[in-house]
Amino acid sequence: MQVELAEAADAPAIAELHVDVWSATYADLAPPEALERLGVAVRLPQWQAALADTVSAAGIFVIRSGDVIVSFAKAQRDPHGPMNGRGEIKHLYVSDSEQSRGLGRLLFNASVSHLKSIGAPGIALGVVDGNNRAIAFYERLGGKHIGEYVDPGPLWRSRNLIYA
Ligand SMILES: CC(C)(COP(=O)(O)OP(=O)(O)OC[C@H]1O[C@@H](n2cnc3c(N)ncnc32)[C@H](O)[C@@H]1OP(=O)(O)O)[C@@H](O)C(=O)NCCC(=O)NCCS
Repeated sequence: MQVELAEAADAPAIAELHVDVWSATYADLAPPEALERLGVAVRLPQWQAALADTVSAAGIFVIRSGDVIVSFAKAQRDPHGPMNGRGEIKHLYVSDSEQSRGLGRLLFNASVSHLKSIGAPGIALGVVDGNNRAIAFYERLGGKHIGEYVDPGPLWRSRNLIYA
C-alpha cells in the first residue's frame, strides 16, 4: 500500500470513511447531537470544496486497498488558528479494519513531508482530550504536548490537546 494524492473523484469515499471512523472514534466522547448531525451530508461538501481548491488538495492524501480508500489525511498551513502558524495535520483517519498496520505512520510521514515542502514553520495538530489511542500514536511518533484549545463548535465544543 502506498500514499497517493487524493483526486476530486475521491470526495464521496473520503466523506464516508470520515463519518465511519469519526463516529466510531468519538462514540463515547462526542455529544449525541454531533454524532447524529455530522454525517455524509455535512462532510461531502467539505471534502468536495477542499479537493477543488488546488492549495488545499495538495495536502490531501489517501491509501487504497485495491480500489477502496482505507485511510486519508489532510495537512495544511494554519496561519490564524490554534496551531499558531505551524503546519497542521488536520485529519488523519484509518479504517477500523486497517488500524495498527502502519498506515497511520505512512500518512503522518507524507503529511510532514508536504508541510515541510511548503515551508511550514513547525508541525502541530489537535487531538481530542480522551482520544487516548490517537494520543499514544502521536506520542509514539515523537509528538510533545505543548498546549490546549477548545474547538469553537457549534455542535461540540471539544477540549483538544495540541501536539507538536
Ligand atoms: C490514530 C490512528 C491514525 C493511528 O493509525 P494506525 O495506522 O493505527 O497506527 P500505526 O499502525 O501507523 O502505528 C504507528 C506507530 O504508533 C504506535 N501506536 C499506534 N497506536 C498506538 C497505541 N494505541 N498505543 C501505543 N502505540 C500506538 C504503533 O505501535 C506504531 O509504532 P511502531 O511502528 O514503533 O510499532 C488510527 O488508529 C485512527 O485512525 N484512529 C481513529 C481516528 C483518529 O483518532 N484519528 C486521529 C484524530 S486526531
